Amino acid sequence: MPDLWAGRLPGGPDPDARAFTGTVAWDWRLAHVDLVGSLAHVDMLGAVGLLSAGDQEALASGLEALLAEVDAGAGPWDPEAEDVHTAVEVELSRRLGAVAGKLHTARSRNDQVALDLHLYVAHAATELASALNRLVLAVSAVAEAHAALPMPGYTHLQRAQPITVGHHLLAYGFMWLRDRDRLLAVAQQARVSPLGAGALAGSTLAVDPERAARHLGWAKVYHNSLDAVSDRDFVVEFVLATSLVLSHLSRWGEEVVLWTSAEFGFAELADGWATGSSMMPHKKNPDVAELLRGRAARGVSEMAGVLTLLKGLPLAYNRDLQEDKGYLFGAHDAAAGAIRAATGLVGALAFRPERTKAALTVDLLATDEADRLVEAGVPFRQAHAEVASSRDWRQSPAASADAVAQSLAERDRTMGPGPGSIARQLETLRAAVAEPV
Ligand code: ARG
Repeated sequence: MPDLWAGRLPGGPDPDARAFTGTVAWDWRLAHVDLVGSLAHVDMLGAVGLLSAGDQEALASGLEALLAEVDAGAGPWDPEAEDVHTAVEVELSRRLGAVAGKLHTARSRNDQVALDLHLYVAHAATELASALNRLVLAVSAVAEAHAALPMPGYTHLQRAQPITVGHHLLAYGFMWLRDRDRLLAVAQQARVSPLGAGALAGSTLAVDPERAARHLGWAKVYHNSLDAVSDRDFVVEFVLATSLVLSHLSRWGEEVVLWTSAEFGFAELADGWATGSSMMPHKKNPDVAELLRGRAARGVSEMAGVLTLLKGLPLAYNRDLQEDKGYLFGAHDAAAGAIRAATGLVGALAFRPERTKAALTVDLLATDEADRLVEAGVPFRQAHAEVASSRDWRQSPAASADAVAQSLAERDRTMGPGPGSIARQLETLRAAVAEPV
């Protein structure tokens, strides 16, 4: 297949140069959004009179036909094409003949690929937000079921004060809700159209960038053509939002690893979410949770990669930008897979009340004891010292269920682990995710 620029360099690229620069094998993921963007472009060209009604209709129905095939799973029509944009345009020419040559009027692959990425990020961020919504719903259900099950809360991974399993799980619920909202903001931020920027300086033809944006349902276009083709901030924001998701999921994975260990024994994993050992017959391992922890490295590396890619690039388009897709797709896939796995893991934990309760020793009530002295008028610093020196804290018997229940009830304030607070937290979280994204 000839390249889109073969008129200037008719000999075609050296095969090694093509192998190094070509991308269709991996940017084919953009085929859907590329066609959606082209449909907006064709609508605009028709509206401003750069296409006759007949040509507009021919191009639009040709693009719709290709879109239907892509959505049904078609691969690149020509796997030798330089990139997804070339594969689409050349296939359109093969089917429609000369009129396909009008598609690229007043457009460059530079504003085209930028638009593709805006569409991709808006869609991917919304899809991840929707998956996080489901994760929050899942964790809310488990938190509700264990709202009153006491367990130790930790600082420095040392037992600190009584909380409940529900309270602990809801902390993750609110973390993931922020992740969802962050991704929704990223999606909104991405809805600005660069189409009309051309290669870097727009076009002498009477294009209407606002019309193309409106066709996509977007209210905004870029103000500056150079910025439009070289901006990848929205990709960075997407990768940042997903790396934070991965980082939060890695914390969740670590909790599951700890809780399912014999040392903690707070929960047991459903067999379907555990793995065995090829050598040790007795093992039941939390590999999914460990991989959630491990997958966060992907987020960090995609983040470092995309920032490094953009650093020091002169305006406007540079081919380096082609590499952005690797980071974008990598971050998207890692986050999508991890959210799905984390959701499964939430439902796969059987908590062991006898173990969470047994871990509640009387030392966890030491702060409550100091608080009582404060209520009797003792300055807190003195109360702290008195309680601290009152006994050997290295050996504490189990606390009574009543004492733990009282401690929780006395903490029934905003943010606290008391029953009323947990009910309010659940209500707040559920209201936030009631509507599917
Ligand atoms: N595949 C290219 C990319 O992703 C498309 C833009 C190519 N533009 C160019 N002037 N060579 O960046």
